[in-house]
Amino acid sequence: MTANGRPGPSPPGIVPIGPLIVTTGRALAATAAAWIIDAIAAAVAARGRCSIALSGGHTPREVYRRLAARPGDVRWDRIDVFFGDERCVAPDDPASNYRMATESLLSRVAIPSARIFRMPAERTDAADAAGEYAALLPDTLDVLLLGIGADGHTASLFPRSPALDEFERRVVPAESPAVPHERMTITPVVIESARSIAVIAAGAGKAEAVFQAREGSGDWHVTPAQLARRGTWIVDRDAASALRTRR
Ligand code: 6PG
Repeated sequence: MTANGRPGPSPPGIVPIGPLIVTTGRALAATAAAWIIDAIAAAVAARGRCSIALSGGHTPREVYRRLAARPGDVRWDRIDVFFGDERCVAPDDPASNYRMATESLLSRVAIPSARIFRMPAERTDAADAAGEYAALLPDTLDVLLLGIGADGHTASLFPRSPALDEFERRVVPAESPAVPHERMTITPVVIESARSIAVIAAGAGKAEAVFQAREGSGDWHVTPAQLARRGTWIVDRDAASALRTRR
């Protein structure tokens, strides 16, 4: 709820800034994988199962590979896998987040295929497909993995996107300034309600966006990753280089 009672994320001043883990570039993937393992274990211990939404892009690939390399540390039979966003391409397209996650993780661990909920962003009836996917999402995700773009976007919530003011629907079609332009994404309400959030970022190119997301005074329309401010930020030193506080 915003400060004046309108629906929407709380202004940055109200949202606590979450933990920050700064690593070397080489240690980032292993550190993020360890965080994910702990977050999954906590959810399974508390509720018997874990719903996790994976992020896309390039950064998570090595994280997922590290996760796949520790099969004994995760109860894959207790996990439901979702996606935070997807490009509007076929699932075997090189740009597909589903393909990236499948290659680096899901094809390498013993998770039943029925427990993997792919976001059907390639469907031409995008609004219906988004609504059907939203109906599959739990009311509260146990674990939400997010990345951040140099422009401050997260999932496929880009600066000034109409999806940033969507507080009814939980999944919507979206536009990206970068190719593939057509996307499907969770909306702010899904980020707001997630139990545990990790934002994983690497490289100096993300430093200003990481600063604006964690410490900037703007709002989420300019830096959508502010929506994940309360999460645990797992970043390398370059991505942390503009931060003023090292929590
Ligand atoms: C996507 C992601 C997106 C990603 C950021 C960072 O579909 O691209 O969901 O939000 O996390 O763009 O991407 P990189 O890890 O490739 O820098």
